[in-house]
Amino acid sequence: MGRNLIIPGGTRIIDARGKYVMPGGIDPHTHFECELMGAKSVDDFYQGTKAAVAGGTTMIIDFVIPRKDESLLEAYERYRESADQKVCCDYSLHVAVTSWSPKVKEEMATLVKEHGIGSFKMFMAYRDMFMLRDPELIETFKACKELGAIAMVHAENGDIIAENTKRLLDAGVTGPEGHEMSRPEEVEAEAVNRACVIASQVNCPLYIVHVMSRSAAEAVDAARRRGACVFGETLAAAIGTDGTNYTHKCWKHAAAHVLSPPLRPDPDTPSVLLNMLAKDGLQVTGSDNCTFNAEQKALGKDDFSKIPNGVNGVEDRMSVVWEKGVHAGIMDPTRFVAVTSTNAAKIFNLYPRKGVIAVGSDADIVVWDPNRKRTISAQTHVQAVDFNIFEGMEVHGVPEYVIVEGRVCVDECELKAVHGFGKFVETPSQNIDYVYCLIEDREKRPRGVARTEAEAKKHAEEDAAIA
Ligand code: URP
Ligand code: ZN
Ligand code: ZN
Repeated sequence: MGRNLIIPGGTRIIDARGKYVMPGGIDPHTHFECELMGAKSVDDFYQGTKAAVAGGTTMIIDFVIPRKDESLLEAYERYRESADQKVCCDYSLHVAVTSWSPKVKEEMATLVKEHGIGSFKMFMAYRDMFMLRDPELIETFKACKELGAIAMVHAENGDIIAENTKRLLDAGVTGPEGHEMSRPEEVEAEAVNRACVIASQVNCPLYIVHVMSRSAAEAVDAARRRGACVFGETLAAAIGTDGTNYTHKCWKHAAAHVLSPPLRPDPDTPSVLLNMLAKDGLQVTGSDNCTFNAEQKALGKDDFSKIPNGVNGVEDRMSVVWEKGVHAGIMDPTRFVAVTSTNAAKIFNLYPRKGVIAVGSDADIVVWDPNRKRTISAQTHVQAVDFNIFEGMEVHGVPEYVIVEGRVCVDECELKAVHGFGKFVETPSQNIDYVYCLIEDREKRPRGVARTEAEAKKHAEEDAAIA
């Protein structure tokens, strides 16, 4: 980049007239080869990142989820081993903390200090599997704060869900519609609010993953307005489709839409979430790509609570946000770049290496044709999964070229992704520029009332020292 550059002979020229040239997308929420509810997601690190690149995403952040009895470090190593060989684009990792002990705390520190981890996800749902209770959330948030990391939460009230699930199954509701009925939006909004309060009291930065409903988004927005260091992520799924699919007569169709928190039946949800993204009530759009084929979804044929949770999105995220956001006139192309790339880079401390086109940044670049159209379909998508929740959607906005670290990996719309070309990228802690700056401003030393002359003198001395 620059003016008056000397261009070496033989350099290929890509004509981008009439197109948008923008930083490659960053999807901060994927689950490739993820073992969940007795199944392993079918998009692996190769197929998943290949699909990402096809859609204009040049970096993903996946989640290390430890198996039962596996330590955080063992799980981290397992993910690294598999992903390093396969990824077609750069990637980072968040680590899920699914239990609490002094050993877990030590491992969190090791991951931050020695392995480039800067964010930890805690579950308030999936009781008896991953769920942490409030005292454990407080401890994990305190540990994140101490380490300069970011706490992430899956915010739904797991106890209420367990109670509702039992009641619904007892009443004979076993189909996928029971999934949403067992965890309606207030069950999400309550947990979002609780997580925001705990994080604010502990003074730890918080990132709410997959905000799926109006009331949950409002809870995030309200916390931000109170000055809390909270960021909200919604999903391509939440703005590109809705919860009416759960009442579809075809079981397979309905089950294919099962993810947590669920899509919402309120038809205004997609436009509410888009407006939140446009106005900075929410900051990021991820995909939560966690794909299971029909036969895996069928594990829950007789019990909706056993349907493996997850949908596609890594490939179509950029197109869906462009179509529903920019093409619909709700956000401008600059905000599109912010919510699909730059904000994630800033929050996870990848900026300005990622999320911007600038001297010194990685050459992750998309040439986006806003006039070209395509129709999304499982018949034509790159992903391994046999279903696409956006099936039949016509989208404007197609990545004509996708450049990954300087290499043209989508060339005139033709995919040329390279197995193993990507690298692991560290997400350093102590992100002062975009995250911890908000925390330090709020740090206060607790102090009681001075009731004696000696105490008053001590306070005066302290005040003088600060001034
Ligand atoms: O349904 C979902 N979201 N599956 C992936 C795991 C998670 O909770 O993010
Ligand atoms: Zn989750
Ligand atoms: Zn997820």
